[in-house]
Amino acid sequence: MKKIGVAILGFGTVGCGTYNILTERREQIKIEYGIDITVSAILVRNTHKAVANGAPQELVTDSIEEIVSNPSIDIVAECIGGIEPAKTYLIESLKCGKSIVTANKELFAKHWGELEKYAAETKAGLYFEATCGGGIPVIRTLTQAMQANTLLQIKGIINGTTNYILSRMSDEGASYDDVLRDAQALGFAESDPTADVEGYDASYKLSILSSLAFNRFLPVENIYREGISNIKIEDINIGKKLGYTIKLLAIAKLIDGKIEARVHPVFLKNSHPLASVSGSFNAVFLVGDNVGEIMLYGRGAGSLPTGSAVVSDIVFAARQIEHARYSEIADVIKKSEVISDFTSDYYLRMTVLDVQGVLSQITSIFASNNVSITSMRQDSGAGVVSIVFVTHKSNENNIKKAIAELSSLSEVQAVNALIRVEK
Ligand code: NDP
Ligand code: HSE
Repeated sequence: MKKIGVAILGFGTVGCGTYNILTERREQIKIEYGIDITVSAILVRNTHKAVANGAPQELVTDSIEEIVSNPSIDIVAECIGGIEPAKTYLIESLKCGKSIVTANKELFAKHWGELEKYAAETKAGLYFEATCGGGIPVIRTLTQAMQANTLLQIKGIINGTTNYILSRMSDEGASYDDVLRDAQALGFAESDPTADVEGYDASYKLSILSSLAFNRFLPVENIYREGISNIKIEDINIGKKLGYTIKLLAIAKLIDGKIEARVHPVFLKNSHPLASVSGSFNAVFLVGDNVGEIMLYGRGAGSLPTGSAVVSDIVFAARQIEHARYSEIADVIKKSEVISDFTSDYYLRMTVLDVQGVLSQITSIFASNNVSITSMRQDSGAGVVSIVFVTHKSNENNIKKAIAELSSLSEVQAVNALIRVEK
């Protein structure tokens, strides 16, 4: 029977889930795939902590040299996170011909090309299913199942932490800070949760998914990004009355050979298939020219769902005679031409003085910027009113120009919220 040795780097949420699945399923994997996969080493910074968390003492090390120089280790699974030392550890492993599996989307999105170069030199494998969508096999779908299609669009909820936070704010009226703490305790959030709540994590994932889908590298910097930290319960509640659910959406579209890519909160009509994806669940909606629409759904974060994706990569890598190369995406294909302006419907909430003529001033600013209104609702207060507009499809630059002009009116106290509405 083929024997494969694995080193797991990191023994936190993902590393521990990976270890538990590999050890529990060892016999089953032998039966189903004819491969005996052994965990030969676990690398951490704090060895005592890892042992206290269930790692066998004899496997734990803090030395990458021990791992890269060990000929019985074939695959290195990186579950540390961040750029360094993870990047150096992966490069050292690739240089020694060991295939790598990683859950680290930040590292992968930012340094895919460099990792691919080292992997190609030693013909080692590069596997990254766990970088996007937790337990959802979305990378495998894009790389193994879409040969008959030109992909046209990706739309997804691809960050579990923000989906968990928005779902609980919406369902229970829970406070943002409390739910963020819960998401951290459950192991969904990144070590610095700013990456989740400000949309960086979703941008890394969108960069990877879009590059695979459209066969051209999409750098993270080319993705428009807004997070959820400014979303107020008040807007979530008004949105509910309008029939909307709030989500952090990642969108990439191929339009006339160019890529439109963005991550930001949206109001989705309650009837939209993505509106019912709640808690730490993720969903990715793909559109191909021949297959039409596909929706993949599952847990987007957490120990065992993510461990499931890492183990799937380990078994997949162990069975390959020759590993797939991504040089075209990483190096050769020109960087994406990116569309920096886009169109959407918009939800706008503002606080204005309750004086004669204010509405006509506001609507004339909309009109002069080619923004047309679908609906308006007004809640009265003492001398000030809160007004909510929903627009027809408008141009992002035009709406931002209109907001700048509205903010300069003495009767407008504040433009409190701007949320895109996705149909
Ligand atoms: P954790 O913080 O839970 O675990 C990180 C592990 O890495 C710890 O065991 C830590 O050891 C170890 N580590 C940290 N720094 C070093 C270092 N310098 N040298 C050696 N070991 C180190 O993180 P997660 O498991 O949550 O995340 C790991 C990766 O997986 C990240 O890239 C993350 O983005 C990704 N991911 C996470 C998901 C999740 O649901 N949590 C889902 C999908 C991907 P020590 O405790 O000793 O510092
Ligand atoms: N922090 C990430 C999330 C982990 O919440 O989606 C999964 O990639």
